[in-house]
Amino acid sequence: MDGIGDRFQQDTKYDPQKMPGHMLDWAAKPDLYKEYPQAEKIELPEFEPSKAMSLDKTLRQRKSIRDFQDRPVSMGQLAYLLWASTGIQRVEDGYEFRTAPSAGALYPIETYVVANNVKILEPGAYHYAIKSHQLELLQQRDLRRQIAAAALGQGMCATAAVVFIWTAVFERCKWKYGQRAYRYIYLDAGHIAENLALSAVSLNLGTCEIGALYDDQINAIIGTDGVEESAICMTAVGVP
Ligand SMILES: Cc1cc2nc3c(=O)[nH]c(=O)nc-3n(C[C@H](O)[C@H](O)[C@H](O)COP(=O)(O)O)c2cc1C
Repeated sequence: MDGIGDRFQQDTKYDPQKMPGHMLDWAAKPDLYKEYPQAEKIELPEFEPSKAMSLDKTLRQRKSIRDFQDRPVSMGQLAYLLWASTGIQRVEDGYEFRTAPSAGALYPIETYVVANNVKILEPGAYHYAIKSHQLELLQQRDLRRQIAAAALGQGMCATAAVVFIWTAVFERCKWKYGQRAYRYIYLDAGHIAENLALSAVSLNLGTCEIGALYDDQINAIIGTDGVEESAICMTAVGVP
C-alpha cells in the first residue's frame, strides 16, 4: 500500500468522523468557462439528428472502433457531438447545466478537438467554447502525426476524422472538494466520453476512447500548461 494511487484512495476517503468543515470561499470560486478572446471563432451549425436512433440501439451497437474510412465528418455532425458530449442543455435558477452530470456542477473538464478530416474546417487544433457553442482556433495545421505520436503511436489518431481531447482545470473542482476533487474529475471526464461514444453511434460514426497518451505531448498540441490544466483522456471519432 505504498504507491501514490493507493495512498490517494485512502487519504481521500470520506469518513463521518473526519468530515472537512470548511466554508466555501465564494469570492474565490473559479470561472466555469474558459475562453480564448483573441482566437479566430468558427460558428457551429445547428444540428438535429435526422433520424433519432433509440437509446437501446445505441447501447447495443457501441463498441470501440479503431479502423476508420478516409471519409470526413460534417460540421453538423461535429457540432452535434460537441453539444451532446458537454453542451449546455438547460438553465435553472440562473445556472447553466450541461448534457453530462458534474460533481457540484463545477464542470472542470474542457474540450478540444484535433480536426484531421472535417468538411469545410481547416485541419488543426480547436477549443470548444461551450457558452457560445463555437470553435476557437488554436493552431491551423495538419496534426495527424503529432496526435498519433502523443497517443503512444496509436495510428487511429491519424486516421480518425477528429480526435476529442479532454483536459481538466483542476482548481474548479478543488475549490470545493480539495484533493478528493481528483476522483470527481476523472468521473466527470468518463461521463462526457460516454456521452460522445453514444451520440457518435447515433450518427453511425465510430469512436475509441484513449487513455494511453503522453500527457505533456498532448498539452503541447493544445497549449495547456500541464499543471493548472492538463490532458485527461481523448476519443478518436470517424466513419467506421
Ligand atoms: C479509460 C479508457 C481508456 C482506454 N484507452 C484505450 C487506448 O489507449 N487504446 C485503445 O485502443 N483502446 C482504449 N480503450 C478502449 C478499451 O480497450 C475498450 O473499451 C475495451 O476493450 C472494451 O471494448 P469495447 O469498447 O469495444 O466494448 C480505453 C477505454 C477506456 C474506458
